[in-house]
Amino acid sequence: MTTNHSGDRRTFRAPKGTFDLVPPRGEAMLAVRDAMAAPLRSAGYGYVETPSFEETTLFARGVGESTDIVTKEMYSFTTRGGDDVTLRPEGTAPVLRAVLENGLHRGALPVKLWYSGSYYRYERPQKGRYRHFSQVGAEILGTEDPASDAELIVLAVDAYRALGLTGVRVLLNSLGSHESRPAYRAALQDYLRGLDLDDETARRVEINPLRVLDDKRSEIQKALASAPVVTDFLSPSDRAHHDTVRSLLTSAGVEFEDDPRLVRGLDYYTRTLFEFVHDGLGSQSAVGGGGRYDGLSELIGGPALPGVGWALGADRTLLAMEAEGLPLPGVTGVQVFAVPLGDEAAAWAFGLVTQLRRAGVAADFATGGRGLKGAMKAADRSGARYAVVVGERDLAAGVAQVKDLATGEQQAISLNGLVTHLQRLV
Ligand code: HAM
Repeated sequence: MTTNHSGDRRTFRAPKGTFDLVPPRGEAMLAVRDAMAAPLRSAGYGYVETPSFEETTLFARGVGESTDIVTKEMYSFTTRGGDDVTLRPEGTAPVLRAVLENGLHRGALPVKLWYSGSYYRYERPQKGRYRHFSQVGAEILGTEDPASDAELIVLAVDAYRALGLTGVRVLLNSLGSHESRPAYRAALQDYLRGLDLDDETARRVEINPLRVLDDKRSEIQKALASAPVVTDFLSPSDRAHHDTVRSLLTSAGVEFEDDPRLVRGLDYYTRTLFEFVHDGLGSQSAVGGGGRYDGLSELIGGPALPGVGWALGADRTLLAMEAEGLPLPGVTGVQVFAVPLGDEAAAWAFGLVTQLRRAGVAADFATGGRGLKGAMKAADRSGARYAVVVGERDLAAGVAQVKDLATGEQQAISLNGLVTHLQRLV
């Protein structure tokens, strides 16, 4: 029935794995993003925006050729001009690309940046896992100081707290640097080669053995129970880095759980690795995550430039708030609602509302010449505390009726002083 000629009358739906945000969840999403950004803005982070798509190779090299993101989940296409581009599946490689391209790394270090936007992964959709989702991210470039790792974790925890969330847990690990990783990789490979694994997993053992730790299948998780853990292989300097992060978190009053089996789906991580999880979300429990990525700059053609960062998932954070029964944030409505009765009053009310808005009072008005009953219903729905009811007779007398919708009290107020009066009331 869905033909494409001009007589086509079919309706449309949002693409699979995507959804619309309509009020009041739309406002709630804005408030979630604002709450995530607020701690960053007061900690000296600058705002950065990069395009929604990048050269495909940036992600292949940056995120890692053998990751699920690159092998299965990218929205990649060739443009009409023949360029291979990909809708960004994550923000770290693009932000680092932008830092290098704009020479920010040649100025004062570290460079502290935050960003917010849409990301795209062709994943199997389920609750909390979408093909189009929203992240707020933060990156610190140009320092190896473990205080930066700790700062980011504290700022994320502060954002979750500001939203009222109490069920977010911090999982912490260190993957070691290039000094520690080869010995661990070899020990893990030795262990994994001794297991009875399917062909694909066995291949993964040879290409990217750490990835196997992230296999969610219960039989694999059981077989991994006695696998060597990375934290037993840390070099003295990697261990010292990790210990400093841990002690700074403790001194900031941030609780965390050491999780030596924590790995993440991106290959650029070195040393500090962390994830924020919420148990009210089912299998997609990570509300955010990040870590250090000291070698990423070189991988994408830049100079040595250590970095650390995170991205918090706004969609899942909103789900976590709903799971905790928190009221939706950011739904404010208007303060004053004008109810005109008759054409002359309608024109006058339009002017009043314009003045109120310019004076900083959130205001709206009944449209379409609605009668008193319908207009008062609209006033109630608007969330306004005060209704300004005005008919031709009021106008002739130079007054408007200001009704307190909470108490039902009504007072005639002179038109001259009305804006000032309402400003004082709200
Ligand atoms: P990520 O762990 O892939 O890390 O994503 C961060 C967060 O984005 C996740 O914890 C989750 O809340 C949300 N998220 C990811 N995929 C989806 C999805 N399909 N649907 C809904 N939410 C999703 C990164 O993206 C790294 N760039 C983080 C980072 C920054 N590391 C260092 N700097």
